[in-house]
Amino acid sequence: MTIKRVPTPAGDQAWLITDYDQIKTLLADRRLGRSHVDPDNAPRFIDSAVLGRPRQGTEQQENERHTWMRRMLAPSFSARNMEKLRPRVRRLADDLLDDLVRQPQPADFHEAVSFKLPVLVICELLGVPYEDRETFRRWSEAMSTLNDPRKSQEGHAHLSAYMGELVDRKKKEPGDDVITRLIEGTPSGQEETIAQLSAGLLFAGHETTVAVIDRGVMLLSLNPDQWDALSKNPSAVPNAVEEILRHRSPVSQRSDDIGMPRYAMADIEIDGTTIPSGDLVLLGIDQANRDETRFPEPTQFVPRESNPHLTFGHGPRFCLGAPLARVELTEVFTALVTRFETFGLAVDVAQLTPRTEQLVGGVAQLPVRWTAL
Ligand code: HEM
Repeated sequence: MTIKRVPTPAGDQAWLITDYDQIKTLLADRRLGRSHVDPDNAPRFIDSAVLGRPRQGTEQQENERHTWMRRMLAPSFSARNMEKLRPRVRRLADDLLDDLVRQPQPADFHEAVSFKLPVLVICELLGVPYEDRETFRRWSEAMSTLNDPRKSQEGHAHLSAYMGELVDRKKKEPGDDVITRLIEGTPSGQEETIAQLSAGLLFAGHETTVAVIDRGVMLLSLNPDQWDALSKNPSAVPNAVEEILRHRSPVSQRSDDIGMPRYAMADIEIDGTTIPSGDLVLLGIDQANRDETRFPEPTQFVPRESNPHLTFGHGPRFCLGAPLARVELTEVFTALVTRFETFGLAVDVAQLTPRTEQLVGGVAQLPVRWTAL
């Protein structure tokens, strides 16, 4: 059976889907979304301000909101525009690695590179002052804690207020950035919506990519033959990046296998089972990424010719930042394999501290050692 009832981390009931084809079909199904006509009584997913609860609304209201959001943001994050950013991202990655090698070994790669690169890039794109990073990092982490609803709500409120002030400032002093373009493209009186959207982008724009950069360093460290192959042939880095995106973290995470939450906005039949409107459905992207028919020997870390992973989702909600994340990941791993003769974890994977309380997971630190070329 590929559909079953499971308890959610928040203690309510949901339908979990684990079959690759079904997940792909359902990710593209507009009858499943983020809205609910009665959010206060909807099944809860997690006790967090991020993804914890549905929004109030019908299928039509959700589709209108979503179409507007994609129309406003898609040009700023298009693959073509992100490609233009590549040289800048590479320079930033090189500068961060220059700073790293000045540190005594072992050094914390998580702090020195994985966190800083996506944050520098998203700050530049959005027009958020990079000097504020430690402040919004705290709020962003608080916002995505899994089991402290008050802390999560407070983090969300702080980040929203911060973005609200930034939107007000940019109305008076426009910049060449995404938030200014959002302001210019939206009728007056929508400042709150722009602030929410920008807070979402700041969050989405760094938390996930940080965790994937760390995961790539771990996976390459555990598979030195792959590191050697990439050093000899850096043009294979994009394929390796897709495998890093597909593969699970070597450090087990509480957030693994929770699934992508959706609410049925109509009665939906799956495999002969009717999912009533209003029910919570979890799409098991991690399980789909381990489907043996798509990914032979799925537990192996091997760059693949065909790698149709669902890590960025699929369909109308396909990750808007995927082109940006791919540029960041390919540039940081190309810099790594071309600048260092040896590079890897300074401790055993079992000694790393997983961020189990965080929605996005990842590790708290990543001590590394290296020898430069
Ligand atoms: C490796 C890094 C990333 C991963 C694994 C990731 C993953 C995802 C996934 C799975 C979705 C689909 C959610 C759903 O179906 O409900 C999504 C949506 C989204 N992502 Fe990403 N993401 C990453 C990086 C980024 C970046 C850098 C940005 C910055 C702009 C971003 C912005 C967004 C936005 C705005 C959406 C919502 C799209 C929509 O609802 O139409 N993501 N992401």
